[in-house]
Amino acid sequence: MTISTPLVRIPPSIASLGDYEPLAREHLNDNAWAYLSGGAADEITLRENITAFDRIKFISRVLRPLNSASTQTRLLGQTFEAPIFLAPVAHQKLFHPHGESAMALGASAMNTGMVLSTLSSVSMEEVARVSSAPLWFQLYFQPNREATRILVERARIAGYRAIVATIDTPVSGMRNREQRVQFHIPPGLEAANLRGLPGNSSQQPVIGAWNARPGSVLFGSALDASPTWEDIRWLREQTSLPILLKGILHPADAVLALESGADGIIVSNHGGRNLDTLPAAIEALPAVAAAVAGKMPILFDGGIRRGTDILKALALGAQAVLIGRPANHALAVAGAVGVAHVLKILRAEMEAAMSVLGCASLDQADSSILWSPPAR
Ligand code: FNR
Ligand code: LAC
Repeated sequence: MTISTPLVRIPPSIASLGDYEPLAREHLNDNAWAYLSGGAADEITLRENITAFDRIKFISRVLRPLNSASTQTRLLGQTFEAPIFLAPVAHQKLFHPHGESAMALGASAMNTGMVLSTLSSVSMEEVARVSSAPLWFQLYFQPNREATRILVERARIAGYRAIVATIDTPVSGMRNREQRVQFHIPPGLEAANLRGLPGNSSQQPVIGAWNARPGSVLFGSALDASPTWEDIRWLREQTSLPILLKGILHPADAVLALESGADGIIVSNHGGRNLDTLPAAIEALPAVAAAVAGKMPILFDGGIRRGTDILKALALGAQAVLIGRPANHALAVAGAVGVAHVLKILRAEMEAAMSVLGCASLDQADSSILWSPPAR
């Protein structure tokens, strides 16, 4: 498929990631909007993910040398221009006709890593064909192990450089916003990677209400198939690609991740979509970083809306961050150009903040840049 990229002019009134959000609302119908913007239940965690960053303050340093300043980051043997990735977000054709292909073009323009969802609406092979960006594949374990193995092997063959196994979603959350609009995948859209896989591969993390055990409304065979630490050890044997576990909040789980052979973790509460009143992701980060003690890379997502948020996450122990909703707001408004634009805004904000804070490199962005740093 060739993707045409019409010249899209971004109006100067879009100066920040937040400026895209109301415009995205105008571009999307109620169904897509509920899916993109909603969180679990009362959306307390969803809001806290963002407001928790506002409570963290910096302290600046002056007159430090900034010549040859850089945001370069090394992770898992790979070099990245900046510590920013596009988070896995399912079904992106809900937001733009070219979906993940347009997202990947935007990532390529800014040479930014992209994590493709298992539930992408464009197949992983097609996305790899149109992308020059570093690609990682996000894995949802399938009820059938052979199907899981095939997904991982296809990702390796297509050139994906890491597997991001998402382990925080035994069920999809109680998302009232989606329920109110009876969220559905419209006809013509599919989870393209799952086509033709053996077994009952799941289009969604499954809620087993229809096959619950007597005495439960949800617990049942579908949940019985949700992965355990044993599956992580199994996955480790299936691939030589680096494995990151996405969705860790508890320090003890970070230690188990290390012991299970994971190469890295992503501290995340799934953008507040799975369980309400979990802590803001940034609040959970310091204790996880303390438990990991530098033994593997920690990535972070949830609520990153500014370049300054990225530096706060780094200062609290992350090596890189992922952005979810804002990239998809921009995708909805301006396709690949919008995606490249939000990445550029984030990088400009981050570099400006590094300059004022006196950080010439990201390893200087430690807890010393924080005002009254929270206990780690
Ligand atoms: C997600 N997220 C997600 N995560 C994942 O591992 N696989 C997936 O398929 C999806 N799908 C998905 C769809 C939508 C619409 C959203 C908003 C999110 C979670 C995502 O990767 C990330 O953890 C959060 O979006 C990060 O929070 P912010 O940046 O949206 O605040
Ligand atoms: C979501 C799933 C697909 O958050 O991860 O919608």
